[in-house]
Amino acid sequence: MTAALEVRGLRKTFPGVVALADANLVVERGSIHALMGENGAGKSTLIKIVTGVQPADSGVLLLDGEAVSFSNPLEAMKAGVGVVHQERNVVRGFTVGENIALSGMPRRSGRVDWPGVWREAKRCLDLLELDIDPRTPMRDLSAAQTQLVEIARGLYRDARVLLLDEPTASLSVDEAERLYQVVHQLSAKGTAIVLVSHKLDEVFTHCDAITVLRDGSTVMESQPISLTTRDEVISRMVGRSLATLEAEQRIVDRTGAPALELRGVSTDAGHREVSLAVHPGEILGMYGLVGAGRTELARSILGLDRVIAGEVRVQGEPVQIRSVRDALGRFRIGYVTENRKEEGVFLLQPITRNIAVTVWSTLSRFLGFVPYRSERSTVQTYVDALDIKISSQDQLAGQLSGGNQQKVSLAKWLAAQTRILIIDEPTVGIDVRTKRAFYELIWKLADEGLAILLISSDLAEMVTLADRVVVMDQFIVRGEVDNTHDYDAMSKAIIDHIHGTETHV
Ligand SMILES: Nc1ncnc2c1ncn2[C@@H]1O[C@H](COP(=O)(O)OP(=O)(O)OP(=O)(O)O)[C@@H](O)[C@H]1O
Ligand SMILES: [Mg+2]
Repeated sequence: MTAALEVRGLRKTFPGVVALADANLVVERGSIHALMGENGAGKSTLIKIVTGVQPADSGVLLLDGEAVSFSNPLEAMKAGVGVVHQERNVVRGFTVGENIALSGMPRRSGRVDWPGVWREAKRCLDLLELDIDPRTPMRDLSAAQTQLVEIARGLYRDARVLLLDEPTASLSVDEAERLYQVVHQLSAKGTAIVLVSHKLDEVFTHCDAITVLRDGSTVMESQPISLTTRDEVISRMVGRSLATLEAEQRIVDRTGAPALELRGVSTDAGHREVSLAVHPGEILGMYGLVGAGRTELARSILGLDRVIAGEVRVQGEPVQIRSVRDALGRFRIGYVTENRKEEGVFLLQPITRNIAVTVWSTLSRFLGFVPYRSERSTVQTYVDALDIKISSQDQLAGQLSGGNQQKVSLAKWLAAQTRILIIDEPTVGIDVRTKRAFYELIWKLADEGLAILLISSDLAEMVTLADRVVVMDQFIVRGEVDNTHDYDAMSKAIIDHIHGTETHV
């Protein structure tokens, strides 16, 4: 059988970087094919070449056995290649319907057939069970909704090949499930699907074949998923095997004043009577499903939403925090936002500036200037610790792979010498090996006395990292669980709190 998509010997270089050295991939019709690899391995570059966004230096692309090469995205779309890129790619000033139909507006006697546009857009939205009016302006949507609309756009034309680059990165569990239902329906109809993901669970649940890239070359080519294992995939990605990470039982002194404490806090965002405390040296997890109110709580602590009742205390003193700047400048509280791409990284600035920007603003307050060399060496420490793949510190952050941009934004806050760090979904989009490096860094910072509030929807991450876990659901703290590092027992305790079979003690 001829494969739906075949990629042979693909090569692509950027000044100073070999993004793809020798990439190969064979995707059968009706198959759901995982494309995995560490941050910067070349996955998105491969997808951009297949979809006509960037030209390759050399290599061959075959669609249903026929050699093709697309000089722009529209050509690829017309040939039946659909895509959802890793970076959001929408026209904010347009409506949802226009964005979905952009590649080919229905026309009637030469004019745009607007009822047709809304109808076709609605059909795609319905496939994903999205209750969004196609006439809604794009800019009114949340990050997750925007991602879902882009996926709907990928369904607009019946694609022969559909490439999805980390489609579930900002989706809730339910939304991801719905997406996978649609993916399975499409594959049953014969569409070949390529799925980029860092989530091994997803890959092993939904995919039937896998290709692994390392440093731009294919190191595991189009294997049936049943013939490989997670350990094998990880060791191919990383180039060696990784021993299991042993979480240690950390000892936290909770006798002094908490670094950060909430007493009966209610907010404009809808929280009621939230109380919690995190001590110096402690990692407090805040677990909940997407939409539970965790990010909104972080925003309220930082003065981005309003606290309407109760008290926020820092180092034992009641405080009023007005902004992120205020939080950092006056109280040394850092905030790694979940929206790192929009809020966390300055894409047109070099990496040095990005990482050093918070350090710089704290230091300059006292010193008036920052010596150039110390800035560069601080930055290098974090570039090494998180293994950020760059060609030089002067490279623009916008040229890094998606995961490496995330790491830059993390590094910026880890370097900021805060006393309290609030981290929201830190490892979404980050590869397995860096995840572990990050965990080790977090332990080290906590051992040095930093108080950490960790927001995560990844239960395994909570059990590995947190000393204690606060469970939030519907903007209320449902309970608290001490970490015993027994994954099964902890998951059960946490889920019980969410379902309300336990009461808050
Ligand atoms: N426009 C560009 N200019 C310079 N270098 C680039 C550009 N685009 C990508 N690169 C480099 O090419 C390499 C591969 O990047 P790519 O985005 O394909 O990685 P990826 O596998 O998708 O990683 P991630 O999991 O982080 O998304 C990286 O080293 C990246 O910095
Ligand atoms: Mg990528």
